[in-house]
Amino acid sequence: PAPGWVVEADVVVVGSGIAGLTVALRYAELDPAAKVLVVTKDVLSSGSTRWAQGGIAAVLDPEDTPEEHLNDTLLAGVGLCDVRAVRTLVTEGPGALRRLMARGARFDRTDGGRLQLTREGGHRRDRIVHAGGDATGAEVQRALVEAVRASAIEVVEHALVLDLLKDARGRARGVTLHVMGEGARDGVGAVHAGAVVLATGGMGQVYAATTNPVVSTGDGVALALRAGAVVRDLEFVQFHPTVLWLGEDSTGQQPLISEAVRGEGAILVDHAGEAFMRDVHELADLAPRDVVAKAIMRRMRESGRDHMLLDGRHFGEERWRARFPTIHAVCREHGVDPVREPIPVAPAAHYASGGVRTDLMGRTSIEGLYACGEVACTGVHGANRLASNSLLEGLVFAERIAADIARDNRAGGRPEPGEPVASRTPDGLVDPRARTRIQAHMSRGAGVLRARDSLAGTARALRDARWTPVQVAPCTESWEATNLLTVATVLTAAAVARLETRGSHWREDHPERDDDEWLGHLDVTLTEEGL
Ligand code: SIN
Repeated sequence: PAPGWVVEADVVVVGSGIAGLTVALRYAELDPAAKVLVVTKDVLSSGSTRWAQGGIAAVLDPEDTPEEHLNDTLLAGVGLCDVRAVRTLVTEGPGALRRLMARGARFDRTDGGRLQLTREGGHRRDRIVHAGGDATGAEVQRALVEAVRASAIEVVEHALVLDLLKDARGRARGVTLHVMGEGARDGVGAVHAGAVVLATGGMGQVYAATTNPVVSTGDGVALALRAGAVVRDLEFVQFHPTVLWLGEDSTGQQPLISEAVRGEGAILVDHAGEAFMRDVHELADLAPRDVVAKAIMRRMRESGRDHMLLDGRHFGEERWRARFPTIHAVCREHGVDPVREPIPVAPAAHYASGGVRTDLMGRTSIEGLYACGEVACTGVHGANRLASNSLLEGLVFAERIAADIARDNRAGGRPEPGEPVASRTPDGLVDPRARTRIQAHMSRGAGVLRARDSLAGTARALRDARWTPVQVAPCTESWEATNLLTVATVLTAAAVARLETRGSHWREDHPERDDDEWLGHLDVTLTEEGL
């Protein structure tokens, strides 16, 4: 439908996690006269950031060096990281973290007042800062929301982004939105803006079991695909190895048991009590995430069990409550006492390492369109993200994007005058009831373990899910189902195409990494003809 209202802005930021809010705050500092608008699907504090437990990785220990952080990141990324992007991340990270603290985020400190640093999988140094023990994301989100509320940045909540608007030259010129329950701006409207920043987060809801909140439905990647932007490496979905196992049939957002629990000494064991990570990797329980997830899956298969166990009983009650208050409470809520029994855990979808391809300034393949945070593929994660590099990536690249938009403005890079047009809209929306079917088929055929036949089954089921006997009304649920189906289809096609095992992409029929054929990226664009 034609937009019922139009709002003008200099910059529109879609999404309100660490990436979106940092772009908005930084741009408002660089250009105080500008109108910066943040639109978000739910409320300002929703999204994945607030669920982050472990922390933010940054070189702060005098014994540590950016080179070591770089090496750990490259090793985890199994040959597919962009070294320049990783160098940017590790060298600009500490400064970006300090500016986050200046915006009000408070991290845990030692008795001597220094930042407390811990370790997580794949890191060879203690370099993870955390807040409230295991509530880092909640503290970061609190601080950023307060800073935005205290600024002149405008916010529209309950605003589902639909499609990208472009000018006559094909430059991004804004977005269309469906706003619900926000008074004058209700219904379908448009924001016309000089620059558009996608910071919509991840797509974990494409799977039946995920650590991601319900809002993580791949909206930004789906929009970018419809707009003709290049999307890269969607097959690399990271499965977090230790998610609280709530039973075979448990679906939706699952409670995370942070890597930091292993960082502080908890051990993975099987049901016979054997610590199985020691024989798998030199870093044992602190091996990179894909290695641990695969070892757990293997042991589950060998023993016929549907979960493994994480033993942190030796921490004792006081340490559990002080260091991991969130995890302790959530375990207790689900009837598990980590002080007295090992925690049942299994892998679940956690993070999209791929996304909308960007350069080092966060620019996508469409002029005026930027992507930041989990929605983006900057090149820092490669085939598997290193723990606690994601909040850091959001911070570092958000600042770069703000700087680039300001530079572009100074250089006169404005959209063409005239009415912008929607780049492309979906050919009919998907019935919201298809959501659980999509999730079940993705988990079954394109989850932690994949093979040609399982992927083919999922691809077939996704084609069928498109079919609907009735006209589907536009609403959040049907747009989300449409976006989920779009990203699921591209993810599955990429997983079919990559005939090797690398990082978080585990092909049972191609169990080896193949550097001769596959040391490259899979870039996808959607055209009228298809992928
Ligand atoms: C965790 O705390 O284990 C998650 C951290 C991350 O995903 O980077």
